[in-house]
Amino acid sequence: MPVTIKTKDEIALMREVGRLAAEVLEMIEPYVKAGISTGELDRICHNYIVNVQKAVPAPLNYNGFPKSICTSVNHVICHGIPSDDKILKDGDIINIDITVIKDGFHGDTSKMFGIGTLPLHAQKLITVTQECLYKAIALVGPGVYLGDLGYVIQQYAEALHYSVVRDYCGHGIGRIFHEEPQVLHYGQKQTGMQLREGMTFTIEPMINAGSRFTKLSRADGWTVTTADRRLSAQWEHTLAVTSDGCEVLTSRKEEPFKAGGN
Ligand code: MF3
Ligand code: CO
Ligand code: CO
Repeated sequence: MPVTIKTKDEIALMREVGRLAAEVLEMIEPYVKAGISTGELDRICHNYIVNVQKAVPAPLNYNGFPKSICTSVNHVICHGIPSDDKILKDGDIINIDITVIKDGFHGDTSKMFGIGTLPLHAQKLITVTQECLYKAIALVGPGVYLGDLGYVIQQYAEALHYSVVRDYCGHGIGRIFHEEPQVLHYGQKQTGMQLREGMTFTIEPMINAGSRFTKLSRADGWTVTTADRRLSAQWEHTLAVTSDGCEVLTSRKEEPFKAGGN
């Protein structure tokens, strides 16, 4: 399947579902505290998406994924499966990744939460990873190369002695959850595809405190951890390329992005 270019009407639907996904992250924030299980966070999000938003949680049954959201704690990089046995505790970091389907379109976004008081190194990793996402978003516009986005992320992270996960990447998104192109979070300037107005895709850098290498759980087939068991962080937005930049379709109230584009 080639890259899809969305019409104005399709972008309007992507804007709606992007807003819903962002609102799930805003809704869940007060619950993300020491003592709650990731299984409970999943139930709260599931019920909100289904009963309040009248939408569909995309992860549920996606390639056999068993829950409605992904919860990735500490050395889990991505695709963590919510569980009633996984209780959050002071000092933990967690990525909550929400993908919602409404009117046939997907909105995909994730953010990091800290539980109680974080060690300085954990807070630093979270902040740098968000800066990686924001630096890439600032570049997005027609004619920009995908490699330019990967380059800025890799340069910034590695200069601070973090590593960039290479085994998982961002993706085109629309009627299909994961469509072309692949959006690598590392690379070289002026390489890869050039962006065009109407493209919609995610940027979702996974940045490790230690080495970039990953390990896939043999027990559940989903949970991706750092090979060295050091911390990992991730932030994700869904974007639409506009005539002169981009619109962050999953922007939250706390963020600096302008409605309709940057
Ligand atoms: N939301 C993830 C992404 O950013 C994908 C999760 S797939 C699942 O692409 F099956 F693990 F839910
Ligand atoms: Co994604
Ligand atoms: Co996601």
